[in-house]
Amino acid sequence: MSHKKLRQGLIETCIAMNESGLNQGTSGNLSHRIEGGMLITPTSMPYDQMKNDDIVEMAFDGTVTGKHRPSSEWRFHRDILRKRSDVNVVLHTHSVYCTTLATHGRGIPSFHYMVAVAGGTDIRCAPYACFGTQELSTVALEALKDRTACLLGHHGLIVLAETYEKAMWRAIEIETLAKMYVHALAIGEPPHLSEKEMAQVIEQMRRMAYGDAPDLDKVKDTPKLPVARSASVAPDTKAEKPARQYPKALKVKVTVKSPANSATKLAPVQGTVAGKAVAPKESAKTVAAPKAASPKTRSTKALATKATTPAKKTIASKKKATTEAAPVATGSAATSFKSLVGSALSRRK
Ligand code: 13P
Repeated sequence: MSHKKLRQGLIETCIAMNESGLNQGTSGNLSHRIEGGMLITPTSMPYDQMKNDDIVEMAFDGTVTGKHRPSSEWRFHRDILRKRSDVNVVLHTHSVYCTTLATHGRGIPSFHYMVAVAGGTDIRCAPYACFGTQELSTVALEALKDRTACLLGHHGLIVLAETYEKAMWRAIEIETLAKMYVHALAIGEPPHLSEKEMAQVIEQMRRMAYGDAPDLDKVKDTPKLPVARSASVAPDTKAEKPARQYPKALKVKVTVKSPANSATKLAPVQGTVAGKAVAPKESAKTVAAPKAASPKTRSTKALATKATTPAKKTIASKKKATTEAAPVATGSAATSFKSLVGSALSRRK
């Protein structure tokens, strides 16, 4: 049997996908490029029962070698691998938070800088198309344009990568982003980072080879270098004053009578009133708290207390970050993937 290591990797990655909580049951599927085609998981087979010879080999012309039918999603796996020479691995999962957003037809906007791990300023959601169809493949390819991930309407997530490890890393990061976004939406649509801010993040990730193992031979950005100013993205000299607009409609100004209450005095740096985000403020006189002891007041005060310490820390660490050299990123998700694969392997021995 050919491609022994790739087959093994396919099974281990599927098991890791389920053990990490990224996927469940026999949902999801995985493929890896080979010469003239791909290796792909068989349809509907539990991953922990899969053996190397259960993996299906499929040529790009659709010819199948193996004892099982390929994943019902072989069309988008084949079409992506045929059209995207930058990709070796196609990972598909029904991860809970990505799928939650996809049931609303929502992608992941630039509410957090890490959306850049999918190669752009957002992660799109393809419109719904029935699983296993050519139509799904077409809409998925469109949503993946210039990206390494997309959501599938009412369905799940597709992640593209060069290696199994990178695919798992990216999928975990994106599922985490989706989880954060769903939580953020409970308060209201969060402000998005601007195109310029995202361009800076993308350039920063490119320069640091962000998400790759810390191989200093490969990475130009070593800890010895000062934080370099990108040639293509001008440094934002007004970084302390982001261009983002926070909703102002429900911002309430009150005068704090008792400066003795230190929690109230310092906060809120960021909080919400009745579901709307409130602009960051450090002034002791512009605390967002209604006067009456209504539920609103209580929740605002609770937020204020909580926000004080972390917010101050953030400001301090921001200042530090501009003067210190940046370490090479390693990606905690990649580390946990390694341990997951390690534990999956040891159980299989
Ligand atoms: P398969 O078992 O056929 O790969 O289907 C799982 C799935 O997630 C379909 O989208």
